[in-house]
Amino acid sequence: MIKFAILGYGFVGAVHAATLKKVEGAEAVAVIEKDKSKWNSVTKGNIDVDGMQPLDVPLFETIEEMQKEVNADCLSICLPTYLHRSYTERAMAAGMHVVCEKPMALSLSDCDAMIAACEKYDKQLFIAQCIRFWPEYVALKKIHDSGELGRPVSFRFFRLSGKPSWGGPDSWFLQEEKSGGCLFDLHVHDADFVHFLLGEPKAVFARGVNLVNGTNAAVISHYIYEGNITCTTEGSWLYHSGFKMGYSAVYENGQIEYDSTQSPALKLWRTGADPEILPVNEGDGYIEQYKYFVNCLNRGVKPERITPESARFSIKLALAEKESLTQGRVIFL
Ligand SMILES: NC(=O)c1ccc[n+]([C@@H]2O[C@H](COP(=O)([O-])OP(=O)(O)OC[C@H]3O[C@@H](n4cnc5c(N)ncnc54)[C@H](O)[C@@H]3O)[C@@H](O)[C@H]2O)c1
Repeated sequence: MIKFAILGYGFVGAVHAATLKKVEGAEAVAVIEKDKSKWNSVTKGNIDVDGMQPLDVPLFETIEEMQKEVNADCLSICLPTYLHRSYTERAMAAGMHVVCEKPMALSLSDCDAMIAACEKYDKQLFIAQCIRFWPEYVALKKIHDSGELGRPVSFRFFRLSGKPSWGGPDSWFLQEEKSGGCLFDLHVHDADFVHFLLGEPKAVFARGVNLVNGTNAAVISHYIYEGNITCTTEGSWLYHSGFKMGYSAVYENGQIEYDSTQSPALKLWRTGADPEILPVNEGDGYIEQYKYFVNCLNRGVKPERITPESARFSIKLALAEKESLTQGRVIFL
């Protein structure tokens, strides 16, 4: 049994706690949350996950106190993004592997320090880019890699939500230097999936909208590849009706469309045939990513499906998009 401690019991900390109950071979053994008002409550975010509930595990204020009593194998870091690097280093120094929420960090130097900590302490780092494990995106990757629809032609990914409101009006989310804004916080899911699917683009071009304090709130990006192929993404915190994600992936011999708000949500068209409703596996990316990482830990192998280096490239992409937003030009990677 792999023992996980969860650091930060805000919205996503509660998602991790609920998720770990559904993963065989894993157990949440402690939570570290500095704000005691969260100890008996659940923070509601922009999506619902079954089983989110007040805590029923020992609670601590620091990871060092927790580690003395509980001796966890792995720390799941569910802290505001600007804290990801320092707590990854502290967790590994205290003898734990790390699951760290996306985005990995807000600078490449922080990503490099996290990768260096893995070497220094001989620990695994799993960046929770859950979309690589989300059933509808796993289905796309499988069909894409099989080559059965022929040459890839055009791709559009979207992820639309209201502003994260669960931290209140002064939330760290709404401060660019702490969250990176929508570009790093929400859109990074698609930036990550794009290069997982299509490989590294040679350049990016982005246009965006900011909040009054200058924090990015919406971004539309072009990922520029060699050859006859287009790829755009849209990420927004300015959407008025809930949350939706999806994509349209067009190939020379067919296309796949996913819209999380539709039922059926995932469809495949082969040239000249009626649309097919694609079956997807049960579960969600949160569960699947833990199942995968628990398996890696049990086998003592690096998580090849999302290496820290690959998660770092997602930050490189987001930084290039930020530069494009600021400079109004194409940025080569
Ligand atoms: N994968 C996803 O779908 C997803 C969804 C939401 C958030 N996230 C990511 O998860 C991270 C956290 O987001 P959130 O929505 O849970 O934020 P949040 O503000 O709801 O929760 C963060 C929690 O960390 C606690 N905290 C802060 N500093 C601490 C410290 N030093 N020690 C102990 N606790 C501390 C806060 O009190 C708070 O409860 C962010 O990086 C965010 O981008 C991922």
